[in-house]
Amino acid sequence: MTTNAGSRDTIEALLREGRRFEPSPQFAAGANAQPGIYAEAESDYLAFWKSWADKLEWSQPYERVLDWNEPFAQWFVGGKLNASVNALDRHVAAGRGGRVAYYYEGEPGDRRAITYEELLRDVCRFANALRSLGVKRGDRVALYMPMIPELPVAMLACARIGAPHSAIFGGFSADSIVDRVNDAQCVAIVTADQGWRRGKHVPLKATVDAALAHTPSIRHCIVARRVGEPVAMRAGRDLWWDDAVAGQATMCEPEPMDSEALLYLLYTSGTTAKPKGIMHTTAGYLTGVTATHDLVFDLKDDDVYWCAADIGWVTGHSYIVYGPLCNGATSIIYEGTPDFPDRDRLWEIVERYKATILYTAPTAIRTFMKWGVDYVRKHDLSSLRVLGSVGEPINPEAWMWYYENVGGGRCPVVDTWWQTETGAIMIAPLPGITTLKPGSATKPFPGVQADVVDEQGNSVPLGGGGYAVLRRPWPSMLRGIYGDPERYKETYWSKFPHMYLAGDGCSRDEEGDYWFMGRIDDVMNVSGHRISTAEVESALVDHAAVAEAAAVGKLDAVTGQAICAFVSLRGMDTGSPALADELRAHVAAKLGKFTMPKYITFTQELPKTRSGKIMRRLLRDIAEGRMLGDTTTLADSSVVTELQERAKQEAAKDA
Ligand code: WT7
Repeated sequence: MTTNAGSRDTIEALLREGRRFEPSPQFAAGANAQPGIYAEAESDYLAFWKSWADKLEWSQPYERVLDWNEPFAQWFVGGKLNASVNALDRHVAAGRGGRVAYYYEGEPGDRRAITYEELLRDVCRFANALRSLGVKRGDRVALYMPMIPELPVAMLACARIGAPHSAIFGGFSADSIVDRVNDAQCVAIVTADQGWRRGKHVPLKATVDAALAHTPSIRHCIVARRVGEPVAMRAGRDLWWDDAVAGQATMCEPEPMDSEALLYLLYTSGTTAKPKGIMHTTAGYLTGVTATHDLVFDLKDDDVYWCAADIGWVTGHSYIVYGPLCNGATSIIYEGTPDFPDRDRLWEIVERYKATILYTAPTAIRTFMKWGVDYVRKHDLSSLRVLGSVGEPINPEAWMWYYENVGGGRCPVVDTWWQTETGAIMIAPLPGITTLKPGSATKPFPGVQADVVDEQGNSVPLGGGGYAVLRRPWPSMLRGIYGDPERYKETYWSKFPHMYLAGDGCSRDEEGDYWFMGRIDDVMNVSGHRISTAEVESALVDHAAVAEAAAVGKLDAVTGQAICAFVSLRGMDTGSPALADELRAHVAAKLGKFTMPKYITFTQELPKTRSGKIMRRLLRDIAEGRMLGDTTTLADSSVVTELQERAKQEAAKDA
């Protein structure tokens, strides 16, 4: 088996990692999850999930916990509930309306504290606005927004009227918006005039305008004012958020939704150039995110919780919006980048709000390591008590740095493994119980049955590695790929019978702890962003000068992987640095800036098998400067020596 991120060396280094951290007796004694929880959940996993579903507010009780018609699950069958009621109304009804839901901090330094009561009011007004525009239950609404309070408000307003939202990360290009909006036939899109990023303006509305020329299903575009510069508004289609909510009632009757009603779509990259619309439904999803948010972060009433992800990705959906709000938590939302105005912005925010829980990504941690510990030391971080990591494998060095310098050696680090498809955390420590090992996501969450299997689908004994799988349904699991049930079956349920294939390589140590190694398919992970090799290749080939292209992930000390493209040009063109930049700009325009290849190596010929398949594994070896394995299947071996030389030159630009 080969993995993108896990070269042999990395795997061996990980498995030699011997450090262990036990929970402190005080933490263990007061923890939400107590040691019996695993056995209890295992004895009856449906009863375990039921106990969490029963904490939600239902407008009609469910009849059955699970109908499993593999691979299609229905959870809490027959029940009705509304996600926004669970996130907001019930806290207000319980007298907790004055509690802060979000401390909002804009990049330029503007700040707001938004209570549950205020959030409910804003959600109701926007929900009424959507309804008066004719958006109804079942209609899909696209969201292309910066990290401003209007984003969670729009999500919850959609949920309130039963209109599934489809958030599109603000870094995506117009073409990417077009694909996603058309796939889901969205009827409306919500955006902002512009966003702030590192002190500069991000032209969100202009990007949406370019997209809307090719999205006939969109009837309305609602624009929140964030930056305040003038933007084009098309009469009859575009309206300002403020005008849309003006005069709207602050109460809005929520739609009672079936447990299995679609709550949202979130597109993610697969192994083809067409992204998959991952479907999440209502009751099971809320059950999964509330249980995991409570137990993995050991959430307490007085916590100030901060997930520093972008709401445009699943981490934000589950652990900035639905999980924390359903749990009545007080969270922080920060709009901008960690280096604006200086590299201590995150630590300044932790200190200001006395954050107690911080959840971020390994790529961010490695960036902080590079910037140096002085930025961290400038601030009082003594409020922190739990640290989390998500998005990619965390190397032991980064784990230790986080533990020591951010957590002051007091805070458990929970490395949480999950995916857009799983909806909620699947494998992670429970901080009052689990012995932590730097670099390991440790054990499956209670009720989750994970395994590591070999090519034949046999469970690999402890101490070995293989494919990560999940062996039984879980409430927050994806219900399918929008409009493509076959692709759902094929992608996740066909390689091994009765197992969900995650697409990750993983080892387990002798104690059964999981060590994730990276993707085993043609999916790259750059700074925790999932990018398909096929998407980048098709964007490259779309450029007039390009004949053929292959993209692979190359290990990168900061971003986990970096995109390395091998490009052969049409005619006799041999390429130039200027053309490489042009290709990068082309990929940015087609997909989004965050998908630009870091390295571009021009070549006359790509290495192919005799049957014409591009040999990606070989290209990965070349990109990472490794000795080449078996090249006997190569059609023309002279290609390789030249490529190795050029890739070396390209990589040398780093130094
Ligand atoms: C892929 C899912 C989960 C929300 C953010 C990313 C990788 C995620 C970990 C972790 C090792 C991880 C996997 C997974 N991944 N968390 N703790 N350790 N790898 O969601 O975009 O759906 O990507 O991210 O490769 O399959 P996503």
